[in-house]
Parts: sequence; structure tokens; C-alpha cells
Amino acid sequence: MSDYLLEVKGLTKRFPIKGGLLGREVGAVNAVNNVSFSIKRGETLGLVGESGCGKTTLGRSLLRLIEPSAGQVLFGGQDITKFDALQMREIRRKMQIIFQDPYASLNPRMTIGSILSEPMEIHGLFLGRTERQNRLYQLLDQVQLPKDALNKYPHEFSGGQRQRVCIARALAVEPEFIVCDEPVSALDVSVQAQVVNLLMDLQSELKLTYLFIAHDLKVVEYISNRVAVMYLGNMIEVAESSELYGGARHPYTKALFSAIPKPNPNIHMDRILLEGDIPSPMNPPTGCHFHPRCWKVTDQCKAAYPAVTAQSQTHEYRCHNPI
Ligand SMILES: Nc1ncnc2c1ncn2[C@@H]1O[C@H](COP(=O)(O)OP(=O)(O)OP(=O)(O)O)[C@@H](O)[C@H]1O
Ligand SMILES: [Mg+2]
Repeated sequence: MSDYLLEVKGLTKRFPIKGGLLGREVGAVNAVNNVSFSIKRGETLGLVGESGCGKTTLGRSLLRLIEPSAGQVLFGGQDITKFDALQMREIRRKMQIIFQDPYASLNPRMTIGSILSEPMEIHGLFLGRTERQNRLYQLLDQVQLPKDALNKYPHEFSGGQRQRVCIARALAVEPEFIVCDEPVSALDVSVQAQVVNLLMDLQSELKLTYLFIAHDLKVVEYISNRVAVMYLGNMIEVAESSELYGGARHPYTKALFSAIPKPNPNIHMDRILLEGDIPSPMNPPTGCHFHPRCWKVTDQCKAAYPAVTAQSQTHEYRCHNPI
């Protein structure tokens, strides 16, 4: 069995933009552009980058909630982009997603009991009455919610508790891989740490593999074994999370991570402020997409898109003029 649960090769998602009277294609957004990476079993890969860089599109394309335009997604060695509807059903059980907004992702008319039972019914799991009841109690226990939650409705819970319900719903079908799309961004800071710690405990207890998308770099650094950085649809650097702070080679990563305050006074890094706006993904700059905002730009950066350089087995970047 391969060490890798997930291997992604050349994944691309292009959204056509239609316009005019005849609804012809007038352009396209390359939301995810030829992205390749792998995630080991039991590992957490963090995914960071500015708003609109393609994190959610990438996460959803892995599960084929958004159909990729090109590329391969190998799950347990099998390319699921080639799977038919029946084969995808089984894969959907193994790959789950948790969304940012626990308010929007729970049906307000359903009790927590029905919300958690629904995915098990769809997949024909825990069918017996007692078996189902025990499973529901087990799920509530795993996410540290009381048993009486089963008969309550989502509005009776706080944001943090609702996100626990969403986590329990994802766990209900015994998944192997979970895409966590900014699971704590909508929560109070005091509650964020509890939910992050819960996700980490569940990971070791249930041997889960995560893709953890977040804006908060401190959270990502804390939960992830490795972190991938995206810029305008491209994955521009991947490294062990401890290596990205201080050891980043791509100027964009360096700028991003320079914004995190560090408690260790021996590590000194000046804050790098990026100038200019994020360019439009409909009309990205030539060469390296980051070149108009980069202080290390050369003529080569404007002309050619940089290939991958492997710094080590765990550290790769795409930059012509690294730090
Ligand atoms: N259905 C769609 N049709 C057209 N363009 C889309 C669609 N979904 C996303 N996009 C575009 O694709 C790009 C990537 O969007 P995405 O939501 O993946 O970014 P993100 O990194 O998750 O951002 P955020 O941090 O704000 O959640 C954006 O430019 C967005 O406008
Ligand atoms: Mg997003």
C-alpha cells in the first residue's frame, strides 16, 4: 500500500465566462491551474493563500463536487476523475468536506438526529434501530456534544456547537479523508482553538487525513504537517510547516508568513508589505503570476512560468529568483 492516500496530478479547473446576447464564452477564469501534490495517510496538508486564489475550488474539485477540467485525482491509487456515478458513491463516503459556515450548512428544519442519520441512510450504514442509536450517541460523544442534542434543532446551538454537528455528520460515514474548508474562520477566537484541537484529536483517534484550508496562518501552522501556498490558481510552494517560516524560498510565501508574530525573539523577520492588488484570474500576468508585485522580479520572471525546484524531499517551490 502506498504511503500516499491522495495524489493529485495537473489538476485544473477553468470556469468559462459567458456574455453577450448569445451567451457566448467571452473569457475564462483559471481558478486552479495545473496543480500537483500528494497527501500521506494520516497527514494534514494546510492550504493557504489570499482570497480568490482557488483554495475552495481545489478542495471541491478533489471530491468532484466541482468537476475538474483536466488532471488526475488518485485516491488510494485509483484515478477517481474517471469513475462513474456508482463508483463515486463509495468514494463520496470515504471523502468528506466540512464547510466554513456552520449556519448555512445545516438544514434548520431537521433535528440533529436526522441530520446525522441522513448520510448513514444514503450509504446504507448502521441500519438496525439499536445500532443506529448507538452510532448516533458515539458520534455525539466523539465531538463532545451531549446526548440530548439529538432531538434539538440547529438554532438551539452556538456556532462552535454547530460546527461540531457538521464534523459529526462528516464522521458519520466513516471517512478516510476530510477537506476542512476554513472550518473555524466563522467562529469566535475563543472557540476556534477548541474546534481545531477536536479535529486534531479525531485525526489521531480515527486515523484521518486532512486537507486544511485556512486564512489564519497561525492555525494552519499549528495543525498542519506540511503547508501548500497558492497564488492565482497555482501552487507556488510546499514545505514542512516549520520550514515555511524563515525557510520560505518564494517571495510571496515569505511576505505571507512575515505577517505572523513569533513568540521566539531569536527569530527575527521584518514584515514584508506587498504592494498592488491581486491581478484578475481572468487575465493573469505573463510568466510568473506574482511578478508585478515581487521585489525580486527579473526579465525571466516576466517571460516564463517557473518550473518546480525541489529544495528537499519535502520542500518544493516555483520561482526563478528565490530568496
Ligand atoms: N462557479 C464559479 N464561476 C466562475 N468563477 C468562479 C466560480 N467559483 C469560483 N470562481 C472564481 O475562481 C477563483 C477562485 O475562487 P475560490 O472560491 O476557489 O477561492 P478561495 O481561495 O477559496 O477564496 P476565499 O479565500 O475567499 O474563500 C475566484 O476568482 C472566483 O471568482
Ligand atoms: Mg474559499
